[in-house]
Amino acid sequence: MVLLEKLLIVDFGSQYTHLICRRVRELKVLAEIVPWDSISETLFEKGDIRGIILSGGPRSIHEDNAPRLDSDILNYLVEHSIPILGICYGHQLLAHLFGGRVEKSEKREYGPAVLEVISDSLLLRGLPKRVRVWMSHGDLVTGLPKGFKVIGKTENCPIAAYESLDKLVFGVQFHPEVKHTEFGLKILDNFLDICGFRRNWVMKDIVERKIEEIRRIVGNSRVLLAASGGVDSTVAAKLIHKAIGDNLHLVFINTGFMREGEAEWVLSMLKRLGFKNVHYVDASQRFLRNLIGVAHPEEKRKIFSRIYAEALEETAKELEKKFGKFEFLAQGTIYPDRVESGATGKTTDKIKSHHNVVMPRISALKKLEPLADFYKDEVREIARILGIPKDVWGRHPFPGPGLLVRILGEVTKEKLEIAKKAHKIVEEEAKKWGVYDDLWQIFPVVLDSKAVGVKGDARSYEYIVAIRAVKSEDAMTAEFARLPWDFLEHVARRITNEIEGVNRVVYDITHKPPATIEFE
Ligand code: XMP
Repeated sequence: MVLLEKLLIVDFGSQYTHLICRRVRELKVLAEIVPWDSISETLFEKGDIRGIILSGGPRSIHEDNAPRLDSDILNYLVEHSIPILGICYGHQLLAHLFGGRVEKSEKREYGPAVLEVISDSLLLRGLPKRVRVWMSHGDLVTGLPKGFKVIGKTENCPIAAYESLDKLVFGVQFHPEVKHTEFGLKILDNFLDICGFRRNWVMKDIVERKIEEIRRIVGNSRVLLAASGGVDSTVAAKLIHKAIGDNLHLVFINTGFMREGEAEWVLSMLKRLGFKNVHYVDASQRFLRNLIGVAHPEEKRKIFSRIYAEALEETAKELEKKFGKFEFLAQGTIYPDRVESGATGKTTDKIKSHHNVVMPRISALKKLEPLADFYKDEVREIARILGIPKDVWGRHPFPGPGLLVRILGEVTKEKLEIAKKAHKIVEEEAKKWGVYDDLWQIFPVVLDSKAVGVKGDARSYEYIVAIRAVKSEDAMTAEFARLPWDFLEHVARRITNEIEGVNRVVYDITHKPPATIEFE
């Protein structure tokens, strides 16, 4: 078995850190993110690190307590000929730490710029003389350390790219990881060549390896997995099933906050995929009883998590009486769920709070998280390799608490009904109009307030439904989707015509940040 070589991305809090990681993986190299203040543990413990990228970040190196790297680490990297590429803040930090000059610039530069390639170099090899790049910075490198060479400049940035072949240190002020930078992927590709990677992050081999690993870890033990019908838990289940067969038990809990017809669909899908031990628990009344009338977002989520945990715990106990003890609890956790980074902590926190509920029996089980190293698109690729059909792997993410977080304010039966009907219309039409597959998510949200309207000849005072549709690569950042007016008009007409209690539909045109994808 070939050992996987790794590139380490040191995170200084950039919103693009996950994007760098994904781009490197697209180039078939395993990349992992590590916070700037814990690089030494990872570097010295995990071995086989062949390259380092320092991310951008919101701080200035002139601030007190600005994040930086110890000279021990830099010396170690240079002595062991491990190449380092600094991006934006990373570019400035490297220049500063090796003895160059970094100054505050007159104004922040944000947006496109033209990079002039002014010298032959390994990093910018194969690029045309002028390329469009994406800038986002305050400070500027104005003087280079000894032995460093300027290889690119822009109008406002005289040292936009540098390299030192002697130390194997490279820097770019702009962001090669974003799509707005032309030849950005080529620059990263050049850097990976400089590191000498063998490019062995190939999903097909990795799937085989994962199945073997699960088989080795689990042996003849029993595994419990809470299935939701979503992509992640289904793919995790399939991997485990391939490895250990029917010692895998799936528990599918109907929370009452699922979409119309969803419980039936999920059950038949799980059967279709060949799982034998599928245990269905209809806890919908219990969820509703506890949540109707609750208004505060955090309280809703807390109650939901508690009931979910109780239902799972009780089911596990029953199953153990029948089948014997479980040794593992499997979860569909994916890479972004477990990596905290400056700009991405929120989702992580949320998902953690969901999972951290006290479940004495279940918490005592060993965790099995076969997807913990993968991004969503990699999970979808694994699904295809495993022969899972598109109606399963192509589903949009759907939050665990489901419609609960898409009904703002107090939960009522009326709002829940509206949410169910609106979801059906939005999903049906998005698929019919061919917009579904291009989106990360599209869904309606029932707002907490009512608006005045006219229906027939009468004045109405009814709920407002907001449509949210976003494009995203990993949910850390997202852009609202510029959907055709005709499609939106059609959806609005259907919602107001077919759903009683709604007289207005609005479209959300905010990006993340500053908004989040979900409303609650
Ligand atoms: P936000 O709203 O934080 O969402 O921009 C980012 C992504 O996470 C999903 N999400 C959740 N998924 N349990 C989940 O399993 C949750 O509680 C939860 N909240 C948000 C959201 O749909 C989006 O894809």
